[in-house]
Amino acid sequence: MPIAKVYSAAVLGLNAQPIEVEVDLSGGLHAFHIVGLPDLAVNEARERVSSALKNSGFTPPIHSKRRVIVNLAPADLKKQGPAYDLPIAAAFLLASNQLRTGNFEDKILVGELSLEGRIRPINGVLSICLMAKEKGFKTLLVPQQNAVEAALVENLEIIPVQSLVQAVKHLNGEEIIERQPITEINHFYHSENFWDMAYIKGQEHVKRALEIAASGGHNILMTGPAGAGKTLLARAFVSILPPLNKEEAIEVTKIFSVAGFLLKNQGLISTRPFRSPHHTASTASLVGGGPYPKPGEITLAHRGVLFLDELPEFNRDVLESLRQPLEDGLINISRAAGALTFPAQFTLIGAMNPCPCGKLSEQNEECLCSAGQISKYQRKISGPLLDRIDLHLEVPKVEYEELTDEKKSEPSAAIKQRVKRAREIQRQRFNKNDIFLNSQMNLKHIKKYCRIDSQSRELLKIAMRQMNLSARSYHRLLKLSRTIADLAKEDNIQPNHIAEAIQYRPKHET
Ligand SMILES: Nc1ncnc2c1ncn2[C@@H]1O[C@H](COP(=O)(O)OP(=O)(O)O)[C@@H](O)[C@H]1O
Ligand SMILES: [Mg+2]
Repeated sequence: MPIAKVYSAAVLGLNAQPIEVEVDLSGGLHAFHIVGLPDLAVNEARERVSSALKNSGFTPPIHSKRRVIVNLAPADLKKQGPAYDLPIAAAFLLASNQLRTGNFEDKILVGELSLEGRIRPINGVLSICLMAKEKGFKTLLVPQQNAVEAALVENLEIIPVQSLVQAVKHLNGEEIIERQPITEINHFYHSENFWDMAYIKGQEHVKRALEIAASGGHNILMTGPAGAGKTLLARAFVSILPPLNKEEAIEVTKIFSVAGFLLKNQGLISTRPFRSPHHTASTASLVGGGPYPKPGEITLAHRGVLFLDELPEFNRDVLESLRQPLEDGLINISRAAGALTFPAQFTLIGAMNPCPCGKLSEQNEECLCSAGQISKYQRKISGPLLDRIDLHLEVPKVEYEELTDEKKSEPSAAIKQRVKRAREIQRQRFNKNDIFLNSQMNLKHIKKYCRIDSQSRELLKIAMRQMNLSARSYHRLLKLSRTIADLAKEDNIQPNHIAEAIQYRPKHET
C-alpha cells in the first residue's frame, strides 16, 4: 500500500478541525518531505518520527529506500506544532506495510513523539475531541497524559497511548489498550487556595463593593496607600464567586488546554480563573496574538477575574488595548489568513496607589510627592478606561485597633451565597436573552429592565450635572443600580440603590 491516509487535527484559535495525513511512498532516491504548510516544529517531525521509528524497532524511512512524501491537507491551513508526529508515523507504517491495514476512517491520532518513541502530551485536546464528536469520528488515540481531559467528551472511544509500539500493537489488534473511562464531571480540579474574606479585618465598604462586583460582573478599581490590603482583597474576590457551571467549565478548560496551561491528568476546571499579569506585560501577552494566535491573559481570565495590580505602572498602550474587549467581551485578532476571535468576558479588578510613593493618605503627611507628580501618576489611566469601571473605591489603611481585633469577619462562603442568589435572579431575568449578568446589558436591555421612578430620575439628573457624567457612565450607573437592587431582592430599582451606585463613581470625573 504505497499511499496511506490517517486523520489528525489542527487547533485554530480555540476550535479544531480535521487534518488528513497522507503518506506516499514511491520509487527513486530516498527523500523525506512534509508538504502542506508545515511550520518548523512540524518539519522537525521528520527527525523525531525517524528516530522514534528506528528506536521502536521499525524500519525507518531512510532504510525504506523510497521517496517518502507526507502531505497534510487541507493545504491552505498552516500546520503547527508537534502533534502530527504520531499520525505521520502511523501513516508511514501503513504505507510501508508495517502496520496492518484497518479502519482509519473514523479515528483521529494526535501526539508528539520523543526520540525513543514515547508519546508526549499536546495542547488543545479538549477542542479536538469536541470537534471529533461533532464530525462523527468514533475513536481517538491521544497521549496518556491528555486522556482525562479527552474523556470529558462523552460517546467517544478514547485510547490513551504511552508509546509508538503500544499504539501500533493496539491498532494491529495484538495488545488492546483499554479505553479511558469517562471523566466524571465532578472530577473537578479544585483549587480553594484563595484568601477568605474572614481573615481580612475591617474594610467593610470595600467588601460590600466586591460583593456587588461579583454579583453583576462589574469592574472595580481600588485606590489606597501601600499596605492597605488592596492585593489581599483582590485575591479574596475569587472566593466569593460561585463555581463555573458545566458549560462555562468546558469553555474555560478549552482555553487553558489550548494555551498549554492544563495540568497533567487534569479534568474540568471549575474554579473561576484569576489572572494577575505583571505590569511589565506586553500587549500581545495581555490580549493574545502571535503567528499562531494564542489566547492572552484577558482570554485566560474569561468567566473569571483579570487583576491588574499597580495599574498606573502598566504601559499606556497595553491598557488602551483593553478598551475594546472590555466593551465587547471578546478580542479580534487579525492575521494574514483572516480574523480570529477569542472570548474575553472577565471582571476587571484594578489596584493603584494614590501617588508614586504610595504613602499619600488623609491622615499622615509622610508622602513627599509633588502635586504635579501625583496628578501625572493618576492621569496615566485614561478617561475611556476609567469610564468602563463602575466601582471606584478608596481603600484606607486599617487602624491598629481593627487589625488586632480578634473577631472574625463574615466568611466568604456566606457572601458567596448572596452572590449566587443575585446571579440566579439575573439568570431568570435574562433567560430569553443570551446574557446572564447585569453588566452585559445593552441599551435595549437597559430600557426594559432598568425602569426607574421620578425620584430616582431626579437623583440621576443632579449627579449627571454635578459629576459631569458621560452617556456611558449614565448607562453604567443604571446597570450597577440594577445589581444593587437584585442583591436587595427588589424587583424595582429604588432611589437608595441609585444613590449607592452614584457613590461608587470617582470623586473627580476626567
Ligand atoms: N484589612 C486587613 N486585614 C488583615 N491583614 C491586612 C489587612 N490589610 C493589610 N493587611 C496585611 O498587610 C499586608 C499587605 O497588604 P497588601 O494587600 O499587599 O496591601 P496593598 O496591596 O494595598 O499594598 C497583607 O499581606 C496583610 O498581611
Ligand atoms: Mg499591593
